This record gives sequence, structure tokens and C-alpha cells, in this order.
Amino acid sequence: MTTTDTPLIEVRNLKKYFGSGARPVRAVDDVSFSIRKGETLGLVGESGSGKSTIGRTVLRLLERTDGAVMYRGEDLGKASGEHMRKLRSKLQIIFQDPYASLNPKMRISAILHEALSTHGLCKGPGEREKRIAELLETVGLRAEHASRFPHEFSGGQRQRIGVARALAVEPEFIVADEPLSALDVSIQAQVINLLADLRERLSLTMLFISHDLDVVEYLCDRVVVLYLGKVMEVATTAELFERPLHPYTQALLAASPKPDPLQATEAIALKGDIPSPIAPPSGCVFRTRCPHAIDACSKTVPPLEELSPGHFSACIRKDLLTPQKS
Ligand SMILES: Nc1ncnc2c1ncn2[C@@H]1O[C@H](COP(=O)(O)OP(=O)(O)OP(=O)(O)O)[C@@H](O)[C@H]1O
Ligand SMILES: [Mg+2]
Repeated sequence: MTTTDTPLIEVRNLKKYFGSGARPVRAVDDVSFSIRKGETLGLVGESGSGKSTIGRTVLRLLERTDGAVMYRGEDLGKASGEHMRKLRSKLQIIFQDPYASLNPKMRISAILHEALSTHGLCKGPGEREKRIAELLETVGLRAEHASRFPHEFSGGQRQRIGVARALAVEPEFIVADEPLSALDVSIQAQVINLLADLRERLSLTMLFISHDLDVVEYLCDRVVVLYLGKVMEVATTAELFERPLHPYTQALLAASPKPDPLQATEAIALKGDIPSPIAPPSGCVFRTRCPHAIDACSKTVPPLEELSPGHFSACIRKDLLTPQKS
């Protein structure tokens, strides 16, 4: 697999507000990041921080309020309906809930056939059957499973079918929105390994949404940390887990303890609930829960600054940063 410097997906100042009028829900509020070809970018943050909204807006399953999403340099928001339908086969999503996302009245063959025919990918019935069998085998199921209905599968198997459906159209980019969270812990590892394996074999580029930091650490090349619709920190996975710079990231990592006594003593706990995105705090949106907040934090929105190569943080408290050890 090759990771190049050319971004496949570029999200620029993306905003998604729900509801109109004076007090919309600011679910995504000026978010920018890019994903290189072949890269898996993790998107983490607490419930309600806007992860799914970003995933859906990037794929244009939701219309953006402002900003741009570029795919291979082309603004998806400006693509015509017909052109967008063509691009859809390149841009797929795997949903969180394998139960809700498969039509219970359809056999697996019909579900996969629907995905294939929407994009005119299979010519005759012979070719179609062969492709469906191939897809099922790709995700570790068997060809004869095609005649079954979704309820005849376990949760992990159903998620494999969701993966097969996304792969049916040979996508280049996949948004995986918490693909594990509805699954038993015992089968999560299988689905993680499946995703890791397919990603290599098919050179997929992925936006992996999760609040399981262990899985993100295992699967992702870089990570974007989101809080109340804004990006707090961006870094390579190794950097982020070794040297989190933003107080929010530090708190998130502390909440998911590692067998590292040093980290444990530095741990700060996240107190209180995430504020409402209808009336986010002024200045830094994290300041109301930040143990390091000072008056100045309420005055201006901290810019996302590159503090070391590829490592960005949006916090004005640079006095807290310890000199980098080498
Ligand atoms: N259709 C909608 N209408 C109004 N508000 C919405 C809508 N969808 C999402 N929101 C709000 O936008 C914010 C972000 O929601 P989103 O689902 O993107 O969060 P998330 O990070 O995916 O959370 P979770 O981890 O629980 O899945 C939340 O405040 C949510 O209530
Ligand atoms: Mg979500």
C-alpha cells in the first residue's frame, strides 16, 4: 500500500449547522483536515462532538452549511446530481449499527445486488452471482450465505455484510462510523482485523470514527481530536498517544488508562457534560471543562497551530508545554 502526500480528501472550513434561525445546532463548526491516499485517519471525540455529522457531510449524505469537501481536487458540494451519483461508488460508508442498516426483508444476495446495480457494475446474472460470492468470501463469509436474510446472522457477520455492501462498488474512500460499537467485545477484534486486512489489500483510504482509543491507536495513521464541533488536535497516531498537547486530548487519554504509571499521575479528569452546541462557550469551546483555562481563553477562538511538524493543537496555553525530550 502506498501513502502519498497528495490528499485524496480535503475538508476545508467545513460547517454543518442544523436548524435555521438565530440558534442553530452548530454540530460541525469550521473543521479542516485532509486525508492522504491510502491513509486511515481517526476521528475521535465524545458523544455529540460531531463525528458522524462530519462523516456524513464529507460524503454529502448531508448538505454542508459552509466550507468545502474536495475529492481529488474537486469540490463535492458543487457536483451535479448525476455526477455525484457516479462519484458515490468511490465514496462509501459503513454504519455503526449492523442491525438497523440492513433491510430485514431482503436476502443478502438482493442487498449486494442492489449495491452493484445502482452503479451498473454487473452485466449479466452469471457475473453478478460470481461477484456476490467473491464479495462474501472477501469479508470471510461463504457464497451460500447469499440466500440468507440478515436475521440469520450474528452481529459480527452482519457487520461483515455491511462491509461487503460498501466494498461491492469498489470504493476508493470509506467512512467507517463506529463500525464496532454495536458488536460484542468478543467479535470486535475480528471486524478490526477484517478492516485492517481489506484496507491493505484494496488500498483503501479511510476515515475511521470511534471513541475507542485503543482501536484508533491500532488502526489509524493519524488522528483528529474533535470537541463540540471543533478540531482540538491533529497528529500522527504515535505522536498523539505519546505526546498529547491539548488539555482535552490529555483528558481523553487519561480517561482511557494505560498501564503507564507516569501517565496516570498526570491524569486530569473530564468533569461535567459537553455544553450544548446551540450555545457553545465563547473563545475556546473546551474552556468550561478545561483544568488549565484562564480568562484569555474566553476571548478568542484559539487557532489550530502546528507546534512540531505535522502536530497541530488549538490551545493558547503554550506555557504549559514541556520542552520536547529527545
Ligand atoms: N439531524 C439533526 N438535527 C439536529 N441536530 C442534530 C442532528 N444530527 C445531529 N445533531 C446534533 O449535532 C451534534 C453532533 O452529533 P453527531 O451525531 O455528529 O455526534 P457524534 O460525535 O457522532 O456522537 P456519537 O459519538 O454519540 O455518535 C449533536 O449535538 C447532535 O445532537
Ligand atoms: Mg456518531
